[in-house]
Amino acid sequence: MQKLLIDGKKILSGNISISGSKNATLPILAATILNNYSTIKNIPLVNDIFTMIELLKFIGLQCKISKKKKLIKVTNLKKNINTVAPYKLVKTMRAGVLVLGPLLAKYQKAKVSLPGGCAIGTRPVDLHLYALKKLGAKIKIKNGYIFATAKKGLTGAKINFPSISVGATENAILASVLAKGITVLSNCAVEPEIQDLIKFLKKLGTKIKIKNRKITIKGSIYKKKISHRVISDRIELGTYLIGGALTAKKLKLKNINVGVVKKEISVLKKMGVKMIINKNYIEVFKSKNLKKINIKTEPYPGFPTDLQAQIMILMTQANGKSQIKENIFENRFMHVPELKRMGAKIYIRNNTAHVEGPSSLTGAEVMATDLRASVSLVLAGLIADNRTSINRIYHLDRGYQNLENKLTKCKAKIKRTLK
Ligand code: UD1
Repeated sequence: MQKLLIDGKKILSGNISISGSKNATLPILAATILNNYSTIKNIPLVNDIFTMIELLKFIGLQCKISKKKKLIKVTNLKKNINTVAPYKLVKTMRAGVLVLGPLLAKYQKAKVSLPGGCAIGTRPVDLHLYALKKLGAKIKIKNGYIFATAKKGLTGAKINFPSISVGATENAILASVLAKGITVLSNCAVEPEIQDLIKFLKKLGTKIKIKNRKITIKGSIYKKKISHRVISDRIELGTYLIGGALTAKKLKLKNINVGVVKKEISVLKKMGVKMIINKNYIEVFKSKNLKKINIKTEPYPGFPTDLQAQIMILMTQANGKSQIKENIFENRFMHVPELKRMGAKIYIRNNTAHVEGPSSLTGAEVMATDLRASVSLVLAGLIADNRTSINRIYHLDRGYQNLENKLTKCKAKIKRTLK
């Protein structure tokens, strides 16, 4: 099994180009089911994307990826489509459940494996199914699979989500674009990745309006051939911003969209992180005398749960007691015991982590438990004394493109080994 070895305490400097957004590419790939020819540009070359491509191929779509150009061409012309998402693909990547909406909308049926729980929480799909039922789908759960049918097609409806979910909002939008009449979704997630999906669907000819947390969709698709460039990854950007604040003489982060990280920038500024902010790039510098802060994770535009583990590393270097309350997932502090083994002073009470700083971290052998927890261990390794060895890094490869190459180019000492 592969490991990452990091020799910490190096001063980083250089440029990092941020990849395309994983969480925007995944629903857009699911949306290609609805269309005949789609070209998606700026895709991140990470394992979750390759799994989604496997799933589309399993369903019967033709996918041609150019890794060099970071683009994929998807063609869906076959009449006999396999409207199934099997367990072996959905279990490794929960976003596989996003094919449910488009399959049901276009082919009136779908059989999709229930994704099950994962390290960070139980992660049910009840809200996805709630929305699809409102659109007229008949749903049965049997043998670990969701069996959904809509013999006469889906019909637009008013759907008020009882709580905010990114995936359920996406599945509902994807199902509604071919539903008869108008669908009004309220209490929606409005993450930038959802806005990018909407931009893609508008190019197909769908009429979609988004206002506050309300999304109105008039079902229809006119275009058959479209091209779309995916937005850049705000979580990867946030991760390297924190990395720069911890280690860098100067780190320049390029290929970004500064408008979608306003909350993150305001948190970093409050902590005393020095940055030069431009529309297309941010320069970040190692910051002394960091200030403590109290934050909570929330749906966009709040502070993202996907940066909770990373900001905690910065909190270990701030003066005083910081707090971070995890409001989205019930079990997303799996990195804490590992960080404590490296010398961090953190205790958890209910869903809040209390972090006492500043503390010097020391290298240790640690275990990655999920995607964002893994990268927080990388950040910890970068500032720790001696060597940190991170096991189970397959989690990292699901969502961070070329992490060790990007960091090595900026003078970090980090390498991958097979043992
Ligand atoms: C997406 C992101 C993930 C991010 C999360 C929250 C992708 C591929 N993944 O995941 O990186 O951490 O948003 O920003 O975009 N819930 C239910 N019932 C449902 C659906 C969700 O109770 O049917 C709960 C979840 O357990 C969780 C909360 O709602 O507690 C939010 O989850 P959700 O927004 O759906 O996350 P994902 O779409 O799975």
